[in-house]
Amino acid sequence: MALSFNVWTIYLRVDRNSLASLKQPRLLVFTLCPIMLGAFRSFIGITLLVVIKGLFVEAIFSDEAYHIDWQLSNVGPYQCVLPASATESNDQLLVLSTFNNGTMISWLNKTSGELLERLPLGYRVADAMIEHNDLFLKLEDGSINAVDSMNGFSLDHPPTEFSSSCNPDLSTIRFEDGKIKIMDHDTDLQIFSIDMPQDFKGIKYFRSDKENTLDLMYSTVGGKYTFTSVSDLTSTQTWTRDESLANIRAYTYVSSADPNLAQMFTELSQEGSMNVLEAYQFRVKQTLNRLKNYLLEKKFSVGAIVKEFLEDEDEATLHQKDVSFGLLKYLIVATEEGKIAVLDVRDGRQLWNYESGLKDILNIEALRSDTEVVIFTKSGPSLTFDITRIETEPYLLTNTNMAPVHSVEKISENGAFLFKRPGGGRFLLENPLNPITQDLYLLDHNSKELNAFIYQNEAITETWKTKVDEQEEIVAFSSRGEEHVANLGIVLGNRTVLYKYLYPHLAAYATKNEENVLTIRIIDTVSGELLHTSFHEDEVDFNFPINLVFGEHWCVYTYFSTKPVPEQKIAVIELYESLVANERVSEPLTEVNALENIQRPQFIQKAYLYPEVIKNIGLTKTKLGITTKSIILELENGQVTILPKFILSARRVEESQLSADDKKEFMVMPYLSAIPINDQAVLTHNRVLLTGPDSHLLSIPTDLESTTLVCTLGHDLFCTRVFPSSQFDKLSPSFEKGKLMATVIGLLLICFFLRPLVDTKKLKLKWLVKD
Ligand SMILES: *[C@@H]1O[C@H](CO)[C@@H](O)[C@H](O)[C@H]1NC(C)=O
Ligand SMILES: *[C@@H]1O[C@H](CO)[C@@H](O)[C@H](O)[C@H]1NC(C)=O
Ligand SMILES: *[C@@H]1O[C@H](CO)[C@@H](O)[C@H](O)[C@H]1NC(C)=O
Repeated sequence: MALSFNVWTIYLRVDRNSLASLKQPRLLVFTLCPIMLGAFRSFIGITLLVVIKGLFVEAIFSDEAYHIDWQLSNVGPYQCVLPASATESNDQLLVLSTFNNGTMISWLNKTSGELLERLPLGYRVADAMIEHNDLFLKLEDGSINAVDSMNGFSLDHPPTEFSSSCNPDLSTIRFEDGKIKIMDHDTDLQIFSIDMPQDFKGIKYFRSDKENTLDLMYSTVGGKYTFTSVSDLTSTQTWTRDESLANIRAYTYVSSADPNLAQMFTELSQEGSMNVLEAYQFRVKQTLNRLKNYLLEKKFSVGAIVKEFLEDEDEATLHQKDVSFGLLKYLIVATEEGKIAVLDVRDGRQLWNYESGLKDILNIEALRSDTEVVIFTKSGPSLTFDITRIETEPYLLTNTNMAPVHSVEKISENGAFLFKRPGGGRFLLENPLNPITQDLYLLDHNSKELNAFIYQNEAITETWKTKVDEQEEIVAFSSRGEEHVANLGIVLGNRTVLYKYLYPHLAAYATKNEENVLTIRIIDTVSGELLHTSFHEDEVDFNFPINLVFGEHWCVYTYFSTKPVPEQKIAVIELYESLVANERVSEPLTEVNALENIQRPQFIQKAYLYPEVIKNIGLTKTKLGITTKSIILELENGQVTILPKFILSARRVEESQLSADDKKEFMVMPYLSAIPINDQAVLTHNRVLLTGPDSHLLSIPTDLESTTLVCTLGHDLFCTRVFPSSQFDKLSPSFEKGKLMATVIGLLLICFFLRPLVDTKKLKLKWLVKD
């Protein structure tokens, strides 16, 4: 743990070049060590060096950026397609589409279809006209805005007369027998024809000139746009853009099944039924068997084994590694148009898609150990797919029609769902093979009230209800997730411990009122008791997003306030059993009935300034919760960044108040009101994400404790790998096996030759013989 923290801070400062300059002295160390320290110790030392170097290399360096992350930049459904300029040399297309309630201008390369630039306008455009390099945008109220068509800058000369450039002249085009036929203007004879796909929808763009060249773009029902350029009666270039994955409504993910893991589980369960000695023998036998099979596979050739050890890994090995480290996950997403697609989370590759035609998908959930996936909609239809073989097309298992629902929520890992009817009634759907046996406490909320329920003996009963004040409205809510907590307390500089309040049934919610006051309340979700309230009366601007997340013993929230100066704030409330060091209230090993819990937490809070508007926040999740938690911030400017929780600590105090002992605490920092953006922590690098208003920010744990996958899904899709405490549990692929092997062999050789020399010398010394 300590190592991982340190490395995190070091990698921020160390760059590639300084590492390269370290290389030479290290070689020196390699050769001197053996003679001075003896073979064994130097071997350990070198191994450590290599391991530490492995840690450095895996940090976010520019050569890794763009390899572990991907972005799907979408334009969305095309409203109007224009040439970007009326000049001869123009090789760009301009597309107007809808984004975030307004219109967006996108520039496409006409030759390759590549997206060059996007510019959301923030207002709606009804029609457009292009003249030379001027783009005139007609708004819904009839007024006209002029912008430069090559860069989107505002101009201030209105057109003499507006005539739309959005409706292509289709008088010479016919659509017959699944073909587009282009007719001669005068003779009405067919000049050229292009085969259209089955789901052809319409022509978006058509332009022809005298010299028998013509450009055509058509769309399909599936959301694809194909551009074809024809000159001298031959199609010269064609490209297709798939815009169907814009605007993700619901998502889930499944892990790739690892056959090796399954075998290991069988072996472990077999061992379970043996006594210790038998189990030990069994395991040794299995391991020897594996060694034997490996040697047989390599035909006992030492050369082949060493070669494999030194070789770079091939595709199949890398794939197998991704599977066994749990890095290979499949994202299953549903778009607002009802398309269901499966994406490889490593590179965004689409494996298959299914047009469900359902435009009101609420939820997608994986069931039965990731072998099935179920889709719920608002209006009632529900689909279940078998995804045992996820790489290939799914198999539709059931297509049921349920009553319309308002919301669906997965409430247990057993596969139980809580449905809320439009009228307000609730019902629970259990998995018949795996029914819920315990009492379940449920908490639901809307903008005015919190309702708590208990699911007991197959019935849902309301337990308590809290209404907020008349002028108040709930704007954010977060309950404490069930997750692993690695540490019960925080070790202070003087070796005392501050115990965290780890009672699991907690939630926080934020309300706004008419006086622009933001109130945060922390409650016990079982009893409904209010534990803590805090106010922010600095003229909070509720036009900006309010975000709230609850982590292990703290809750972090963000808001934008206008006093004393307009500024984005990020605040934290931490909960402790006691603020006195070494004072523990909860008793280890005793389970407390949540209804009789009388232990109250104590609170500390702090607020910080942040330089950018924060749109959405999330938490990194790792398998065991040992890695430091980080807050994932999605910024209004299209970036995604992470902020380690220890920076956002409620216990930071000004430098003058830190005692010498306090400074010994791990990762302690004096309080500074502003938190800067660390360039190395920006996960999106130079990318700009347009995620839209309802984007989802998620973190998927992998089987490597150090690694979590972070995605944001909305208008654009973006995923990356994040190592909040650096990659402490994995050697880098560039781990220098060859050098390590050579050093070990070298050491053995040196020992082999030095030994007799030393022995002779000792003997001569004993007999006082001179050389
Ligand atoms: C944006 O969309 C919301 C709901 O979809 C609607 O209520 C609102 O009026 C829209 N705003 C504009 C400027 O069109
Ligand atoms: C468009 O793509 C072609 C081919 O990839 C390339 O040669 C050209 O430079 C690109 N144009 C622009 C404006 O990026
Ligand atoms: C240890 O440090 C904490 C925090 O500064 C302080 O509250 C506590 O009294 C100290 N305990 C001892 C035994 O010095």
